[in-house]
Amino acid sequence: MLRSAIGRISAVALQILPLTNVVYAIDLDVEDQASIKNAASEATYGMMTYYHGNETGAIPGAFPAYWWEGSILFLALLNYWHYFQDDTYNEELSIGLQWQGGDNGDYLPSNYSQWLGNDDQMFWGVAAMTAAEYGFPDRPTGYSWLGLAQGVFNSQKTPPEGWDPTTCGGGLRWQRTPIQGDGYLLKNSVSNGGFFQLAARLAVYTNNHEYADWAIKTWKWAMKVNVLDKTTWNVADSTNAQNGCSDIDHTEWTYNYGAWMTGAAYMYVYTKDDQWLEAVKGLLKALFKTFAFPQNGNVLSDWSCEVREDCNRNNILFKGITSQWLATIALLIPELEDDILQKLQLSAKGAAKSCSGKGSNVCGIRWYGGYDGKPGMEAQISASNVFSAIMLKYVDKKKAKPLTSETGGNSTSDPKAGTDNNPKDKDNSLPTYAPITTADKAGAGIMTAAMVSSVVGMGAFMLVGS
Ligand SMILES: *[C@@H]1O[C@H](CO)[C@@H](O)[C@H](O)[C@H]1NC(C)=O
Ligand SMILES: *[C@@H]1O[C@H](CO)[C@@H](O)[C@H](O)[C@H]1NC(C)=O
Ligand SMILES: *[C@@H]1O[C@H](CO)[C@@H](O)[C@H](O)[C@H]1NC(C)=O
Repeated sequence: MLRSAIGRISAVALQILPLTNVVYAIDLDVEDQASIKNAASEATYGMMTYYHGNETGAIPGAFPAYWWEGSILFLALLNYWHYFQDDTYNEELSIGLQWQGGDNGDYLPSNYSQWLGNDDQMFWGVAAMTAAEYGFPDRPTGYSWLGLAQGVFNSQKTPPEGWDPTTCGGGLRWQRTPIQGDGYLLKNSVSNGGFFQLAARLAVYTNNHEYADWAIKTWKWAMKVNVLDKTTWNVADSTNAQNGCSDIDHTEWTYNYGAWMTGAAYMYVYTKDDQWLEAVKGLLKALFKTFAFPQNGNVLSDWSCEVREDCNRNNILFKGITSQWLATIALLIPELEDDILQKLQLSAKGAAKSCSGKGSNVCGIRWYGGYDGKPGMEAQISASNVFSAIMLKYVDKKKAKPLTSETGGNSTSDPKAGTDNNPKDKDNSLPTYAPITTADKAGAGIMTAAMVSSVVGMGAFMLVGS
């Protein structure tokens, strides 16, 4: 993702939005399923006011200034559908998630590929993988969800733009090419942790050992260069390939922990080897110790930016992604559910209180201390994610658990996806949307038309400013 992300947009948006005189907040009772559903549908509705990829003439799934964020918006929609069985947004989700696979089915669409990083590509692959695991139906034509995840894996295991054995004995660089500047010099935690996770998930879904071999190789590499510390289970943010990975940047972010921990949980499922369980437990403990403090009500907090109030757009998404990964871990390893659920519920309660912006239900960035005056698509996405995560307690665990090809997952496998010799061509015409049939459109009725039009203006500003 782009290092120079603009954090001040939200403040600008705030000033141009009219305040309504209705006092409102998201009212959440974590012990009441209807209340959880309501909270999630309000946050998700707010999130979707920022999505225009389904409008006439627009490109599905395209987020021109912040391409990777589309993957997280679609992940939130997948979770919303999975945990509440509400298909309100499924059509937009399905079309956009497939379309951004690009010409080669590997989430390197040529419109963006000159500047996107391995982490950006990885998150789209993880979104497609999640679709396969949730049994989200493949589209009748074009790439399958599993094929798209395989496309990302194949692309990322391949040097020089993916796995890079020429420095530090391996690992993925952050950015894929030298012209992308500073990021190319770093091997970062989330690109590698995400590749590890994707490989582990593919191993579980397909039962093919090649994926597990790559997961193990990536894990071992991260231990060797001290991105992962096996004693403290601290997870570093990046290491510098120019110095043989001897410099470590220890900035703390929730999703770095989440990326590795989730992959380790899948490896435990795949191998039944207790070493992986120990890793998950170690990372879980370190995550809560590092990011959930009693003085903030034990809610998850990416304090590295939240305390100084200088979170960029990327940062705002991290704890929402991590919340969803925690829910997945609890589904995979039931003995961890109590511990995870307790923290997620506290986070969700805090998030609900923060969703009281503009005299309405607009969500802020921090999940403690009420609304912090910073609205935006990213805050809506993260709130949506944490609200659906706490449904974990109520879903039928057997059904909610990620599917594999042996337990009913039927997404079509395309092992050569994303390689030059992949025989499967994409049906390259833009899909059309099915008519809207769902009567129960989720909604927070008081989101005003004024808000929607301001957001359009904000999109234009972003393009100019980036
Ligand atoms: C696009 O999606 C939004 C959000 O779900 C919906 O309100 C709108 O009706 C959709 N527009 C079209 C043209 O389908
Ligand atoms: C790339 O841009 C072209 C031209 O705007 C557009 O038609 C196409 O759908 C875009 N592709 C993706 C994957 O965004
Ligand atoms: C695959 O499974 C999904 C969800 O269970 C179902 O809706 C779909 O019809 C199945 N597709 C095929 C081709 O069997």
